[in-house]
Amino acid sequence: MLEIDSQWLRRFRRSLIAWYAKNARDLPWRRSRDPYRVWISEIMLQQTTVAAVVPYFERFLARFPTIQSLAGADEDDVLRLWEGLGYYSRARNIHRTARTVVAEYEGRFPADLATLVKLPGIGRYTAGAIVSFAFNRPAPIVEANTLRLYSRLLGFRGDPRSTAGQRVLWGFAEHVLPRREAGRFNQALMELGSTVCTPVDPRCDACPVRPCCRAAADGAQHEIPRPAARPQVIDVTEACLAIHRRGRYLLRRRGPHERWAGLWDFPRYAAHARSPGRLAAMARESLGIDVQVVRRLTELRHAVTRFRIRLVCYLAECQSGCVRSRPDVRWVRPGEFDRFALSVSGRKLAASLLAR
Ligand code: ADE
Repeated sequence: MLEIDSQWLRRFRRSLIAWYAKNARDLPWRRSRDPYRVWISEIMLQQTTVAAVVPYFERFLARFPTIQSLAGADEDDVLRLWEGLGYYSRARNIHRTARTVVAEYEGRFPADLATLVKLPGIGRYTAGAIVSFAFNRPAPIVEANTLRLYSRLLGFRGDPRSTAGQRVLWGFAEHVLPRREAGRFNQALMELGSTVCTPVDPRCDACPVRPCCRAAADGAQHEIPRPAARPQVIDVTEACLAIHRRGRYLLRRRGPHERWAGLWDFPRYAAHARSPGRLAAMARESLGIDVQVVRRLTELRHAVTRFRIRLVCYLAECQSGCVRSRPDVRWVRPGEFDRFALSVSGRKLAASLLAR
């Protein structure tokens, strides 16, 4: 692995900073050091690309410009703005953290790692990003882009996601970080990782720190980092019901321990319930209403984590029972679907019902 001495450090820092000054992308969350904006952007950027995040970030900040406005919002409204970004626990945690920061810290973000990591949804990386980007204090970061960059710089051939690998990479992150302008330095590391030191076909020819890189020297940039074990994709079929009654359809809010907790959806059932009689029995059991399955409407495909789901959607007529007393169930006119945070597949079905 790489030996780091003071000459290496000086050269690395100087080359990186000079490159970033010329090559930084103008991203909306880089225009301010407000910890609230840093925090929202970093949560959105977890497991999500920059291109996908930009419009969500702009809409979210337009609707909730301050942490106070977010803390005062309904969770439903937060989820509605998050709809389509996925990993909805991020949105619920953002809401909880906003309430905590307003209630316990007068609406001001704590500037130290130990306090930040106690807040819902804030791990070591996000805490480091807030402390360094917003407060410009030295705090190391390791996320997907820097994990790859550090592994290659070091020529680290072990598993970067293992406990031992994480210790190596966090140690490196701490070691390379200058005391001054730590926020800018961390942004530069991430930018290099995401635009030059890319997962496939890294652009070593355009890399400002190529002379500092062990993997490049060994021609090992395609082997490092060691790829993560891919979980096996599992194919499943589910059925869902668009239950109709007097111009409205039944929506059900998903429970706290279900996939997409807090989002609204058309009632869904396991594939084995796909005969009309079985589906009607499931609807009676889960919702206490009698329905008649009228016909098959459409079939949607979507993926959630390692599941590849085929969703067969049926139209059903409600014949009796009205479930008015349940807070997790609503009868909704197609024109009002818009107000509810739906799963992506739920939104597709809603759009087709609206168009009918
Ligand atoms: N990925 C995670 N955080 C990021 C940031 N602040 N800028 C660009 N890409 C990122």
